[in-house]
Amino acid sequence: MKTIAVINQKGGTGKTTTAVNLAAGFARRGYWTLLVDLDPQSSAAHSFGLDPSQAPATLSKAILEDRPLVEAIRTTNTEGVEVVLGGPELATLELRIKNPLTAVRVLSRLLAPVRPAYDLCVLDAPPALSLMFTNALSAADGLVVPVTPSFLSAKGLEALFTTIDEARADLAIAPDLIGILMTMVDRRQCLDKEVETSLREVFGEKVLSQVIRMNVRIKEAPGHFRSIFAHAPNSAGAEDYDAVAAEVLARMNLPQQAPAPSTEEDPHADGLTPELRPAPAEPVSHEAHREGEDTAAHAPAALAG
Ligand SMILES: Nc1ncnc2c1ncn2[C@@H]1O[C@H](COP(=O)(O)OP(=O)(O)OP(=O)(O)O)[C@@H](O)[C@H]1O
Ligand SMILES: [Mg+2]
Repeated sequence: MKTIAVINQKGGTGKTTTAVNLAAGFARRGYWTLLVDLDPQSSAAHSFGLDPSQAPATLSKAILEDRPLVEAIRTTNTEGVEVVLGGPELATLELRIKNPLTAVRVLSRLLAPVRPAYDLCVLDAPPALSLMFTNALSAADGLVVPVTPSFLSAKGLEALFTTIDEARADLAIAPDLIGILMTMVDRRQCLDKEVETSLREVFGEKVLSQVIRMNVRIKEAPGHFRSIFAHAPNSAGAEDYDAVAAEVLARMNLPQQAPAPSTEEDPHADGLTPELRPAPAEPVSHEAHREGEDTAAHAPAALAG
């Protein structure tokens, strides 16, 4: 299992949107993906209609009560995507954790037993230099850094890279930068074009060639508890996130697999309130579907090599 942290200490740069839709994009390409919600706001879980505040098991409880992480995993309405519920208690974890010395690697330790069950793991990091932010850095093999096309976002990148360098030195970790991802881009705006040009000048190949355009369908999708591929498969948002999933796989030297066709857009989508939608909150039985399998066995034949 390779772990990708979607990370930026700046708020509102499209981290959760990217984590959710990258996870769905990887799953469409045959990669069984675990999405881990590290933000006490629980936006990633909410994007699939899951409510950690009511859940008996969460990542926070696994950490505080020393319980197995598998209890906090839920299936979603997207085949191939399962979610680790973080829980609102993540906000106060620093104050309650028993062993602060090992706390920066607790996520990595908890993930270890579930690694054989997934091909990829996507971490949705919180927008603050919290314990879970550090845990995302220490558990990740690679980083995807979403950034919006504004002057301040570009400045924030310098601070982020300093933080990452410090963490590398302090924790002796070495996550690769997979790429900086420009999100919410409107190339009709002069500022957006200018920021994109200057980011590419400064960071060169570190900036993913694919950008995510500003697209209202992307913004709507969490309200329908679906990824962009299920909500609006023919939208610019689905096209962009699919291309980013492919570019990230390529940068990680993972085999490309043609995406499975998206399901048709639900014509009744707008008519259903969240209460009427079935919440896919079944705990995952790993014994039932994956125990003993290694990573390649789950991937399509083309991926298994
Ligand atoms: N490409 C896009 N087009 C339009 N709206 C978008 C796009 N990407 C994200 N958004 C919207 O921007 C807002 C912020 O996105 P998101 O929640 O993913 O950011 P975040 O970095 O996770 O925020 P936080 O720092 O609070 O965790 C959300 O309302 C989201 O729906
Ligand atoms: Mg978020």
